[in-house]
Amino acid sequence: MQTSAIILAAGAGKRMKSNTNKVLHNLCGRPLVEHVIRACQAIGISSFYVVIGRDAALVQERLGEEYTYVLQAEQLGTGHAALQVEPSYRGEEHVFVLCGDAPLITGATLDKMRQIHLAEAADATVLTAIFPEPGDYGRVLRDDAGQVCGVVEAKDATPEQRAIKEINTGFYCFRGDKLFAALRQLTNDNAQGEYYLTDVIQVIHQSGGRVASCLLEDNDESLGINDRIRLAQAEGILRRRIRNRLMLEGVTFLQPETCLVDDTVTIGQDTIIYPGVMLEGNTSIGKNCIIGPYTRLENCQVGDDVTIEFSVAREAMIGDSCIIGPYAYLRPQAELAAGVKVGDFVELKNSQIGEGSKIPHLSYVGDATVGARVNIGAGTILVNYDGRQKHRSIIEDDAFIGCNSNLVSPVRIEKGAYVAAGSTITQDVPADALAIARSRQENKPDWVKKRRQLE
Ligand code: UD1
Ligand code: CA
Repeated sequence: MQTSAIILAAGAGKRMKSNTNKVLHNLCGRPLVEHVIRACQAIGISSFYVVIGRDAALVQERLGEEYTYVLQAEQLGTGHAALQVEPSYRGEEHVFVLCGDAPLITGATLDKMRQIHLAEAADATVLTAIFPEPGDYGRVLRDDAGQVCGVVEAKDATPEQRAIKEINTGFYCFRGDKLFAALRQLTNDNAQGEYYLTDVIQVIHQSGGRVASCLLEDNDESLGINDRIRLAQAEGILRRRIRNRLMLEGVTFLQPETCLVDDTVTIGQDTIIYPGVMLEGNTSIGKNCIIGPYTRLENCQVGDDVTIEFSVAREAMIGDSCIIGPYAYLRPQAELAAGVKVGDFVELKNSQIGEGSKIPHLSYVGDATVGARVNIGAGTILVNYDGRQKHRSIIEDDAFIGCNSNLVSPVRIEKGAYVAAGSTITQDVPADALAIARSRQENKPDWVKKRRQLE
């Protein structure tokens, strides 16, 4: 059976008070509308019509080229939005119409709707929910036989209708031909002067069509993001879902409610997440790691058996068995091979660190290529910026950089060379050499005693 989906994403989203279209607001690492599309994809839907209007180019750019975009030049309501699809419609027999601002819908619920829609040979199937306080949701109207016969918007409802607890979630499945026939009959004679998609239910019912309904089991799924309070609510719900999924996949969370994990993140089995951890974007973490407490990783690739505590990393690659932190800061293009140690108050940027190398404390390593088994002593600074340009340095395998050294880039410390503590290195150091670049110590005998005698 052919099923497609129309996603409504053109609205102004006034209640968000935002400079961007609300369907582009981020929820756990993806724009709101992408969550809706993914729920459809989870049940095998591959034909999409995304109705765009506000920030049309931006929505299209964020979602990519695999969908059919339909422009709703003026936002005249959800019914008008759906009607814009008609000229590009490929004639699928059944079509979901989904609000792009309700991101918590799941594939399981869409699947259940579709089953009811087909089993009851319905022309329209509405997903409804029972809310003790239905607020601004549309109310579902039923006839004496208990069949759904319409939806009335809260703003248009009589006090009796407002008291109805069954609401319209904004998710529907239609026979394609019946949908467009009904859409063409809509008027905008209502409180908001809009063409309401919800009115097609009444049109279909009155023309003798069959309207079925599917009752939502978990009300959270219907949450429509109209304002930032709802956005925060959705965030809380989806974060919990993500953590629960990961826990069922074998990840331990010591205090799950304190951790924020994006939907896009993957974590291997037996990894332990301590309290206060944020894992964002395209981050992947391997098996048997210990992450946190209080660590933020954004777009990072982390291998197996890694320990990271009290640290921040962005666009970094961290190899197997590395030990990071406490208080390390890994910036973009920090690439750590296996077994690297990066200790407290160390900042790394655009630098490759070879296997087993150690940068245990208080260092800045920027724009450097560091070989294997290198030891970089406390307080070492890669002086990579001359006020105009950045320069790169190379520290080869088995080199040893003494504490509190400055390596003024570009320099090369060759294989096995030593740099004496406190040196400011401005020239290359040959393999196996010792470089000392500091003034010699001079002791002045009895200097203190003589001064005392003068006093
Ligand atoms: C809509 C329903 C309401 C339901 C609620 C569920 C209508 C008339 N009302 O109300 O019954 O309870 O969803 O969340 O449908 N959009 C367009 N073009 C437009 C207007 C809206 O594309 O001209 C899009 C928006 O981007 C949004 C979606 O349609 O993604 C829903 O619009 P919104 O204004 O949020 O409708 P609600 O008032 O929430
Ligand atoms: Ca809405």
